[in-house]
Amino acid sequence: MKTLSIDVGGSGIKGMVLDKRGKPVSERIRIPTPKKAKPDPVIAVIEELIARQPPFHRVSIGFPGIVVNGVTMSAPNLDGNWRNVRLAERVAEIADCPCRAINDADMQGFGAIEGKGVEMMITLGTGMGSAVFTEGHLVPNLELGHHVFEKDHTYEERVGDAARRDIGNSKWSKRVLRAIDQILPVWNPRVLYVGGGNTRKLTEKLPDGVRKVDNIAGILGGVRLWDELGR
Ligand code: BGC
Repeated sequence: MKTLSIDVGGSGIKGMVLDKRGKPVSERIRIPTPKKAKPDPVIAVIEELIARQPPFHRVSIGFPGIVVNGVTMSAPNLDGNWRNVRLAERVAEIADCPCRAINDADMQGFGAIEGKGVEMMITLGTGMGSAVFTEGHLVPNLELGHHVFEKDHTYEERVGDAARRDIGNSKWSKRVLRAIDQILPVWNPRVLYVGGGNTRKLTEKLPDGVRKVDNIAGILGGVRLWDELGR
């Protein structure tokens, strides 16, 4: 059973094929996200990824917005109207195999969690993603990034990539620590995982109970999501 796992991001769309244990069996391919990231051009990039990867039996997509039953509801960092796009259905048709689409931070969380107690994930990339799991079960579409954090700005406005470019890695890292300090006592996770492409730009040491995860978790989660959602 091979899974093509795709991560749709604000700057790149990445994909690789994994075996049933989540071991990569192909090179990761990254194609820049189209400037006008409307549904049709983004789906065309997914089609290109599908064509350039070895054979697989199913497709998983991590998408940077709210996804309900494979239908996208929002995409704050992609240009274009993503309300009610039947993403999983459209890609299943193109790939001619089953496809599941979920929120990108939810998928990344599947790649990181141990399945014990409350585990939480935040992702630092173009935007800020978040996910929460209890005993390995996902509570889908937690959108913490759009909640107020400080100075009347949301977490995403304060720690997203635009803010990091504005203030530099050192100040930004301190801000991320303040965000974590606010998240921990509210959600009380056993572990908080921090992932996404900008995690490697953190200059500060993370507190106990907070673990960095490799960006590849976003893609590895593509296998686990079938175990969970298939139950
Ligand atoms: C979206 C989330 C997404 C995050 C990271 C936010 O703007 O609302 O759904 O997980 O960006 O891509």
